[in-house]
Amino acid sequence: MAKFRGIRGMRDLLPAETRFWREMEGQVQQQLHNFGYQEIRLPILESTELFVRSAGVATDLVNKEMYTFADRNGDSMTLRPEGTAGCLRAAIEHGLVANRISRLWYTGSMFRYERPQKGRYRQFSQIGVEAIGDSGPDLDLELLELSWRIWQALGITDLVTLEINSLGTAASRQEYCGALVDYLNQHKSELDPISRQRLSLNPLRILDSKVPATQAVLEDAPIILDFLDEDSGNHFAALCRLLEGLDIPFVVNPRIVRGLDYYTKTAFEWVSDHLGSQNAVCAGGRYDALSGLLGGPAVPAAGFAIGMDRLALILRSLNEEGYLETTQADVYLLALGEALRPQLLQLAARLRVAMPDKRIVCHLGQSKIKTAMKQADRSGAMVALLLGEDELAAGAVALKPLRGQFAQRLVPLDKLEEQVRAVLDQVGLVID
Ligand code: HAM
Repeated sequence: MAKFRGIRGMRDLLPAETRFWREMEGQVQQQLHNFGYQEIRLPILESTELFVRSAGVATDLVNKEMYTFADRNGDSMTLRPEGTAGCLRAAIEHGLVANRISRLWYTGSMFRYERPQKGRYRQFSQIGVEAIGDSGPDLDLELLELSWRIWQALGITDLVTLEINSLGTAASRQEYCGALVDYLNQHKSELDPISRQRLSLNPLRILDSKVPATQAVLEDAPIILDFLDEDSGNHFAALCRLLEGLDIPFVVNPRIVRGLDYYTKTAFEWVSDHLGSQNAVCAGGRYDALSGLLGGPAVPAAGFAIGMDRLALILRSLNEEGYLETTQADVYLLALGEALRPQLLQLAARLRVAMPDKRIVCHLGQSKIKTAMKQADRSGAMVALLLGEDELAAGAVALKPLRGQFAQRLVPLDKLEEQVRAVLDQVGLVID
């Protein structure tokens, strides 16, 4: 019979990677906590209309990438392709947007039907941050500083670059779009076919094109920063000054337009050379009009999301060995004979109570002692405890250090916890 395989673009993260992921997520979450952000847990399914209205009808996200289906009631549902819309929906629904700044973060899987490649998956993980309730550049700065501190904590500030832009208001963007389309129409024959299609559908996306011929045309294209309304221009200038004040390096990239229509004013991406063509590890910006679009009060907001799969790729490029961590146990217990298993389980239980910070694993199943010892070694444990008839008769258990230079010894059962701890400490010292 044919074996089942995972769905294309949806990865299994195996135990060798998950420990690393937990650590990475822990580091990010620590910084979020330090900046006063609180976790919000959101559903994975939302009504399709939420994403259509927020991301925009003309976007690739809505037109090509959503996992949408009718539920049993016939209502159109979508697996969330991103977290901002759901987070703002929840904040409005539960009154978190009134007269205060809500600092929220969330994590989990997002789903987009894109062509899978390195760093691009159909199910991927984000940690997203949304700060709702302030319109000033101070809040943009706070978010950029927060992301910078995250890179600092992870030791990757040298591997990422901040690119920022301003998209202005809907009105100034429309004016810019007009000028861009006029210019591109003059060079239509030089554009790639997809960009030509976008000319009428979503011309701003042409700025993202990676096709060299189109890029050459874009060299002399008008830039959005020249079309900003006064307020957006001042906001952007103030943000640049604030970033300089904190010594956070950045470059202005007037081609950043983002794939979602809800942005106003600030838009940014953290990009890295360590990622291949999908080079944004984190992206976000301001979306002052979104709450109103979703039927909420007119509250300004800004946020970003880190692509955790891409962050893992960057960290892995730094430390391949540390990334794939396979140890499973600190102490591995084996019974020499099935009949001794109940006593073995009792010893394991005693150790778990006595040393809750250590990983205690019992060998289960019926294997030969040689195979069992191999598994003990592979578990990464520092110490194996062997219980046989002879040991039991002597009221003891054999302790065999698996790491470091210690001889096997017999440990009296009434001194079990004390002696195992002593050996773990010693082996730990030698290893360090
Ligand atoms: P986004 O740029 O669509 O923005 O996604 C943010 C990040 O998620 C990207 O920079 C990338 O690292 C990661 N990402 C996106 N698509 C994929 C994929 N197919 N596979 C792997 N990683 C991916 C948003 O989602 C906005 N909600 C961000 C935001 C929050 N803006 C304001 N607040």
